[in-house]
Amino acid sequence: MTPTSAPSTVLVTGGAGFIGSHACVELLDHGYEVIVVDDYSNSTPQVLTRVERIAGRFVGAVYELDIRDRHALSAVFDRHSVDAVVHFAAHKAVGESTRMPVEYYDTNVGGTTALLRAMHEHGVHQLVFSSSCSIYGDAGPGPLDEATPARPTNPYAASKWICEQILADVCQRCPEYTVLCLRYFNPAGAHPSGLLGEDPYGTPDNLMPYVAQVAIGRRKRVHVFGADYPTPDGTAIRDYLHVMDTVEAHRVALDHLADGPGMRVYNLGVGKGSSVLDVITAFSEACGRPIPYEVAARRPGDVAELVADATAVARAWGWRPIRDLADTCRDAWRFQQLNPHGYAGSARRPNTKA
Ligand code: NAD
Ligand code: WQD
Repeated sequence: MTPTSAPSTVLVTGGAGFIGSHACVELLDHGYEVIVVDDYSNSTPQVLTRVERIAGRFVGAVYELDIRDRHALSAVFDRHSVDAVVHFAAHKAVGESTRMPVEYYDTNVGGTTALLRAMHEHGVHQLVFSSSCSIYGDAGPGPLDEATPARPTNPYAASKWICEQILADVCQRCPEYTVLCLRYFNPAGAHPSGLLGEDPYGTPDNLMPYVAQVAIGRRKRVHVFGADYPTPDGTAIRDYLHVMDTVEAHRVALDHLADGPGMRVYNLGVGKGSSVLDVITAFSEACGRPIPYEVAARRPGDVAELVADATAVARAWGWRPIRDLADTCRDAWRFQQLNPHGYAGSARRPNTKA
């Protein structure tokens, strides 16, 4: 392909995951041919059956593989004429990363370099990369723009920042590359059909799926980690971005790969902060009953406030989130109600044979 043409076949790494599965629907809905690779280390293949059901179209091919397996990855590029890659596959749990730093660097950094090598060998030079607001560390209060210095405070965040630096260096030295790096704040919510959502293994680390499991009765109450932060209600503030807005930004990003080579970095957020108590109140309204909670100690490593200044992406691409916290809670609640035990028990989509 020429560097200025819009991609039509997109390889989605981590396509069975929370954000990746919603992205697959968004891309299928917009006519893309979608190829998925995932090792299901934090997801299940059943998700992809649901993706196809929502989209009314098949995913082009699905490969169960670890992105660090260069030979397996290379075989996928041999088989498909990939125009661009959207790279979601990574480990993402901050707490776990402090206990398993080597695993996080290996998967997140090693996985990204293995992918880059396979792309390079196959002449694929267009990438949309999932980064994270966690690279900013404790930079608040106030909306953070992309010029905020990176100060990662845990191996997960450091792994994302290392990837960003690798990608920036590759783009600087190899002018054929276009990399769009998206730093998400707190993606949450679910597909409006209720068929796709966030289904973490074990006890959810993140607030929104935890609140949803309390609402459905799987857990007794929410533990609010700290009510003594310097915020209006004392609880910590984050920028919750609906997952559908998140993936729509990726679809828009694919259109903008054609803008020219180099690396561009954008925050993805609403630009508005919500406290833990705001989330509990909004979810209570969504599910029609009060969510029980109790105040607990602060979670080590948490910061008082992380809110995006997301004006750069709006200026560059005209992309803005269109959903608010009430929409996010309503959709998360619908998914939780329709899938009280997550994806367990739903039909599995067969993998494509490599
Ligand atoms: P997720 O865990 O639901 O999805 C990641 C997917 O990648 C999973 O399906 C997992 O099985 C797969 N995967 C992991 N390691 C792999 C490997 N070695 N080979 C192949 N597949 C592998 O996570 P998510 O919430 O969908 O996050 C997607 C991306 O967005 C990640 O890169 C994450 O770091 C980033 N991100 C997420 C958030 C968030 O709050 N969810 C915020 C900022 C950035
Ligand atoms: C939100 C707020 C908690 C659970 C994480 C990653 C970040 C990014 C987004 C990947 C905090 C509070 C939580 C609970 C609570 N992911 N909380 N009780 O920590 O802002 O960000 O996800 O890149 O890197 O760190 O999200 O959902 O865990 O927490 O009170 O049971 O809810 O203290 O203030 P976080 P979260």
